[in-house]
Amino acid sequence: MKIAILSGDGIGPEVVDEAVGCLRALDRRFELALEFEEGLAGGCAIDACGTALPEDTLRLARAADAALLGAVGGPKWDDPRASVRPEQALLGLRKELGLFANLRPVRTVDSLIDASTLKPEVVRGVDVLVIRELTGGIYFGQPSERRNGPQGREAVDTLVYTEGEVRRVVEVAFDLARQRRRKVTSVDKANVLSSSRLWREVAHEVAAQNPDVEYEDLLVDAMAMHLIRRPREFDVVVTENMFGDILTDEAAMLPGSMGLLPSASLGTRETCGREGTGLRYGLYEPIHGSAPDLAGKALANPVAAILSAAMMLRFTFGRADAASALEAAVEATLAAGARTADLAGPGEKRLSTMEMGAAIRARLG
Ligand code: IPM
Ligand code: MN
Repeated sequence: MKIAILSGDGIGPEVVDEAVGCLRALDRRFELALEFEEGLAGGCAIDACGTALPEDTLRLARAADAALLGAVGGPKWDDPRASVRPEQALLGLRKELGLFANLRPVRTVDSLIDASTLKPEVVRGVDVLVIRELTGGIYFGQPSERRNGPQGREAVDTLVYTEGEVRRVVEVAFDLARQRRRKVTSVDKANVLSSSRLWREVAHEVAAQNPDVEYEDLLVDAMAMHLIRRPREFDVVVTENMFGDILTDEAAMLPGSMGLLPSASLGTRETCGREGTGLRYGLYEPIHGSAPDLAGKALANPVAAILSAAMMLRFTFGRADAASALEAAVEATLAAGARTADLAGPGEKRLSTMEMGAAIRARLG
């Protein structure tokens, strides 16, 4: 099993190191036969090669069974007029590898219930899986450009979805809901957008074929409210690319820190252009960014990256045993009071990134 390691920028390398450390420990215990190979992506690739997603990196990611990514971006590459930007690495990998289903599980941890800005009785027991469509919508629609119009500068972005793009991601939502609490909430803006009306129509067709799973639609503005008002009532939430981007940052505040949330971006071997086993290819990454203000200070929380590695074990490698062991180690470490700076209350001891990684590894046996 080969894993492409794309650490990226900012705190990316720091948190990925800890996740790789955990994978190596599990490799010994569960005989996973993991191999790691590093590649450049994001700002560091721009510095080294002039492009955010070098051909070599794309080749490496394609040849591997899965990729683990840290984060990309930073002030050094932030010029909004630059034609080469770190984010192109992420968008390019998603599109080129056909990673259309982005799974973002949001679970509150009992021992961290006070880390949330929301009331404990609202967030205790939250367990939501947001599935964000990742290769369509306004992120990729054409035209997307700035131009000179009759009234001066203007710019356009295009929100387009085909029925096939909607169907395959909504089907993933139903498949996963069946392994959970059997409820799907589809989020759109069907009162305004044509693309959302198509989304809703197709979602209803898929729902009709899956009568054993409860289904509801919500408009995205209402969802933004319900997500913090009654988050426990959601099981699987499926939505288009940009709504999913926005709602998952909001959802991250339920557990209390962006440093806790992992993600998996999945495609089939088919969409990745590979023959095969039917296994899902995946790019795994924390949902947080490169946090340039924390970089190099060992302050970052590696839990999101470590839980992303657990998702890799579960989804790409089919090793629920190793994944569960890692998730249990994280939970036990947090329950024992280990806190990085983002989680520590006043006067609480703050662990460095490496200390948190070591504390989790110590529980892996
Ligand atoms: C995310 C990020 C990316 C996105 C950015 C960095 C392009 O915010 O993965 O959520 O918008 O998809
Ligand atoms: Mn985002």
